[in-house]
Amino acid sequence: MEIVETTDYEGNKIKYKKYKGRAFHLQTFGDVGNQLRMVDTFKVRPDDVFLCTFPKSGSHWVGNIINALITESSKYLEGPLTLEFHDLTTADEDKNQRIICTHLSYPFIPAAVKAGTGKVINVLRNPKDTFVSAWKFFSSMVNIGYAGNMDGFFRFFLSDEFYMSASWFNYVKEWTDGKANNPNMQVHTVWYEDLKADLYSEVSKISKFLGTRNDEKFLREVESIVSFQSLKTAHETDAGAVDRWKDICKDGRLPIYRKGVIGDWKNELTVAQNELIDSMIKEKLAGYNLNLRGKRSLSEFKLQIENTDRVQIENTDHLFCDRVQIENTDHVFCDRVQIENTDHLFCDRVQIENTDHLFCDRVQIENTDHLFCD
Ligand code: A3P
Repeated sequence: MEIVETTDYEGNKIKYKKYKGRAFHLQTFGDVGNQLRMVDTFKVRPDDVFLCTFPKSGSHWVGNIINALITESSKYLEGPLTLEFHDLTTADEDKNQRIICTHLSYPFIPAAVKAGTGKVINVLRNPKDTFVSAWKFFSSMVNIGYAGNMDGFFRFFLSDEFYMSASWFNYVKEWTDGKANNPNMQVHTVWYEDLKADLYSEVSKISKFLGTRNDEKFLREVESIVSFQSLKTAHETDAGAVDRWKDICKDGRLPIYRKGVIGDWKNELTVAQNELIDSMIKEKLAGYNLNLRGKRSLSEFKLQIENTDRVQIENTDHLFCDRVQIENTDHVFCDRVQIENTDHLFCDRVQIENTDHLFCDRVQIENTDHLFCD
């Protein structure tokens, strides 16, 4: 392991631990090589739940959902065992059912987990909001291995040097491949945006995956325990302060609960930054569409169209839908069905069916970024 200190062309300073070509945060426990060996051989129990998240994707949110489901209580979960940040030698002393977190990319998770022991919940979020959340988070703390401006952090975040064991792109790729290639691994994927769209249904899916209580009354209680405001309030009490983080933030209370919205990137990213991240998504995730989309479970959205000249869905951010469907229309006379300029249109199918006399010059889907679609 070596400690790398670099300065970019604008004078922004980056410092991290490097091991076998990969970058790890300075807060990684001790020697990275030793820690990764401990993680690889970690003694996993069948009832362990591994919360595997790219940082700032909603880890605390999902962690508290899992905790409420498992413990059937409203006790706030803070500072659970985190594979890369904690001393693992005493991990076996905890005799309760464990929620074990990690931001490590797929190659580094325990071998036993890959082979199917324990359950994994993998949490992801749109990279633009993830970046903004990460920038606000890291720049409000000290000793975090970055001293500089937002644009420098943006380039660092996009690079393979990003110090959370992988860039967002590599993290998504490695986890997508890991899930596809290890059918024995018990894994359920959660997207931040889906939690925002329909929390109840996502909590219900997590509960079914974990095999916890699943009646509506209980799930509604869990939904309310993990609302943004409830978690924020709980985090501001003693429960939110942890010794482990005392050297990076006041009282050891990580600045987690900020806005909790989708699309804050529009207030923060410049046009150039937005274009850069878009082009990188296209380039880096080429060929990964189906895997990403396939893990999503989205609420149905029906678009019904009759007798219009033009049907147009445009400039939407985050249109998450199972299907865009035009059906059972009698005599639709329309010039164009057009879906354009959408960012992140995740949809299983765009389908036009059972139309009698659909007179339509063009059905056109254009300029969509990240159209994940069969
Ligand atoms: P923002 O910084 O965009 O507000 P993590 O726990 O992985 O560090 O993620 C933190 C992000 O999740 C923050 O995003 C935080 O506000 C958001 N978050 C946490 N709990 C939430 C909730 N109940 N509802 C919505 N967003 C939540």
